[in-house]
Amino acid sequence: MTSLNKIDVAILGLGGMGQTHVKAAKDSPYVNKIYGYEPKLDRAMSRGKELGIESTSDLNKILNNSLIKLVYIAAINEAHAELTEKALRAGKAVMCEKPMGINIKEAKQMLDAANQTGQFLQIGFELHYSKIYTLAKEWIDKELIGSVINCHCRYYCSEFHLKNTWRSKSKGTLIGEKLSHYIDLQRWFIGSPAEEVFSMSAPNVIYYFNHPDNHQINIRFKNGAISNLNFSMFIGESDTKNPNDPLMEMLTKQSDDGHFLQYHIFGTKGAIETDVFRRRIRRWQFSDSSKHMISKIVETVTYSPDDDMEWIHNTYGQNIRISELVAKGLPPDNPATDSFETMKVGFAAEISEQEKRIVKTNEIV
Ligand SMILES: NC(=O)c1ccc[n+]([C@@H]2O[C@H](COP(=O)([O-])OP(=O)(O)OC[C@H]3O[C@@H](n4cnc5c(N)ncnc54)[C@H](O)[C@@H]3O)[C@@H](O)[C@H]2O)c1
Repeated sequence: MTSLNKIDVAILGLGGMGQTHVKAAKDSPYVNKIYGYEPKLDRAMSRGKELGIESTSDLNKILNNSLIKLVYIAAINEAHAELTEKALRAGKAVMCEKPMGINIKEAKQMLDAANQTGQFLQIGFELHYSKIYTLAKEWIDKELIGSVINCHCRYYCSEFHLKNTWRSKSKGTLIGEKLSHYIDLQRWFIGSPAEEVFSMSAPNVIYYFNHPDNHQINIRFKNGAISNLNFSMFIGESDTKNPNDPLMEMLTKQSDDGHFLQYHIFGTKGAIETDVFRRRIRRWQFSDSSKHMISKIVETVTYSPDDDMEWIHNTYGQNIRISELVAKGLPPDNPATDSFETMKVGFAAEISEQEKRIVKTNEIV
């Protein structure tokens, strides 16, 4: 039996997402030693201790360690471009959380560094690994709904970014921070270049955000398909921990309290609906009759609360897979050039909202 080629990895940024990365790295059969980095010494030491890894506030110790082959970047969004470029130029493979930079200049900086060094760069669009969306994509690729001509995403949640944190004070908008995932999926499902973007945003309800708390993003694709993404961050009931029923887990409660995270993917021969808060994906099939067109639900798949993470947010599976790719010297599953196209759509939406006009993606260079 041949032994696995194990690599050392580092996690830059040891907050909530950094912790998820550490857990996946500990479980990965491809990872040997795990290092951590935080810019402030106290935090580097305390988080390293809490997570049970060796940590430092000296980035060069990570960059100059030739045994570290892969760096996971889970720092605040403003640090993504600089950390990615430094790590790539130090010869590391990089997996960086979305967004790919907070503006087009930073996204380009990251892409250029990957192209110039020839190093591995994958952006953390983990929904490409989440079963609810991989199943939708599988049904599309099998042509079960014909050609996708329209894709709607409705995403309503509660405010969980908190006052006076980097998220509410961010220089970037929620389009990069949250909606880049959902634009990325629309591009993936439709499979044609996005050409035009028209986005609007109503006045804020959440007064302490530096950026809009709602967006309506419309995209027209080269093949004629269109998509819409409707987002607001204030209607879903806040997490009150439900004192009357501590056993009721959150997704079940949120399934009917204002939270929505649904896609409707309309094809020429059928349609797909994904519904995170109902833990369900369904497929319709269209057919003809002498009187009118027939639409019928032909497939419904549900999953249990125990499988939520694998079905909805498979960051863990993504991270293990990336350690495998790097250990085996394989290219990214999802190339950075593709993630760059998603970011271009997001930046076009930001301009569209500011300038109140349709923005062509080829203006974004
Ligand atoms: N599903 C997803 O894709 C998903 C979910 C959550 C977070 N994220 C992404 O993960 C990243 C981190 O989010 P989080 O929820 O862990 O936030 P967090 O606030 O919990 O952690 C951020 C960490 O970055 C550290 N940090 C600040 N400046 C840094 C720098 N220059 N270098 C290194 N570290 C630095 C902070 O001290 C903090 O520990 C963000 O980019 C976020 O968008 C992705």
